[in-house]
Amino acid sequence: MSILITNIGELVTNAAPADADAGGGAAGFAFITGAALVIEGGQIAWTGTAGQAPVADDIIDARGRAVLPGFVDSHAHLVFAGERGDEFAARMAGQPYAAGGITATVAATRAASDVTLRAGLRRLTDEMLRQGTTTFECKSGYGLTARDEARSLMLAAEVTPEVTYLGAHVVPPEFAGDTAGYLDLVCGAMLNACAPRAKWVDVFCEEGAFGGDEAAAVLAAGQARGLLPRVHANQLGPGPGVRVAVEAGAASADHCTHLTSADVDLLASSGTVATLLPGVEFSCRQPYPDARRLLGAGVSVAIATDCNPGSCFTSSMALCVALAVREMGMTTQEAVWAATAGGARALRRDDVGHLAPGARADVLMLDAPSHTYLAYRPGVPLTAAVWREGRLATARPQVLAG
Ligand code: NIG
Ligand code: FE
Repeated sequence: MSILITNIGELVTNAAPADADAGGGAAGFAFITGAALVIEGGQIAWTGTAGQAPVADDIIDARGRAVLPGFVDSHAHLVFAGERGDEFAARMAGQPYAAGGITATVAATRAASDVTLRAGLRRLTDEMLRQGTTTFECKSGYGLTARDEARSLMLAAEVTPEVTYLGAHVVPPEFAGDTAGYLDLVCGAMLNACAPRAKWVDVFCEEGAFGGDEAAAVLAAGQARGLLPRVHANQLGPGPGVRVAVEAGAASADHCTHLTSADVDLLASSGTVATLLPGVEFSCRQPYPDARRLLGAGVSVAIATDCNPGSCFTSSMALCVALAVREMGMTTQEAVWAATAGGARALRRDDVGHLAPGARADVLMLDAPSHTYLAYRPGVPLTAAVWREGRLATARPQVLAG
């Protein structure tokens, strides 16, 4: 069964995420106007100009709308219970964000049943899909016991293959004053319970969480068990996170809000993607990272939501694109590349984030003629339709009516 989507005003195809020539910014952004694409067997079978499209079993008239690769949200914390709206309100009244708030979510998560956690997780993943996110990463980090981290990963694995072990999120209250004892657990019994369920290992390398040597030890322990490293780095202040990430060969250093020139040079000369999370700066009222400095140095940049109940409770990649454009100086093309192919690069995935023949048919149709509208019409729901692995996931009735 093949589907032809034709009369596409702007088809964003992108270079493949691993394509080195794509750089970290707009160089990888590619598009066809007056385009069509064919989906078959869950993959993109053909792209080109509408006049040259082959026949297909089914035809959808895009009526000039834009079509993009589905968003790739490479950083999200989706397994948790409770919420922290009061903490957000306090921040807006002048309180700073502090890593310690995480423990409130840890307590609520430990107390919640699997059924409650699963329901919350599904609500968020449905919300993401409706907004065009077709690939996402999901971390543990609100359990912080071997049992609760393992069950968080079990639940995450029900919804995505991009599962990340974040036992080293913060030191939980029962280990207060005994970071070394907690790290023994994170790198020992907890890792034993979690390694079979995860693809990635992550650590919050920050004042109030874990230092550089501690973070490096967590990554090394995870890597020894076959997990691939990624790091929460340089969010709240300058620190060793980026260096630790690059030295471990991490796929991504995330946040990158406070970077020295040495950090930028390290990222530029490595295969580590800088994943920027502008929703966090928005939700914590903090200065945004300098995307132009990173792009100017040749660093690969991804954009992700960091969806979590504390520092940023948005699941909207479109909002993050708009913030990246308006607040971080990215062009609309750079921001869309970063939210699609950039995210795929941060997850070391080459099958998503672009729409070349052979790529997974993860397709976002906008109710707009161009990708620019994601930033030009901020806050407006622009999803016309979403296909994931070639299957229609959501659509406005008028799209299917032709
Ligand atoms: O990426 N920085 C560490 N972890 C999350 C926040 C988690 C929370 O506040 O609950 C983040 O911002
Ligand atoms: Fe995070």
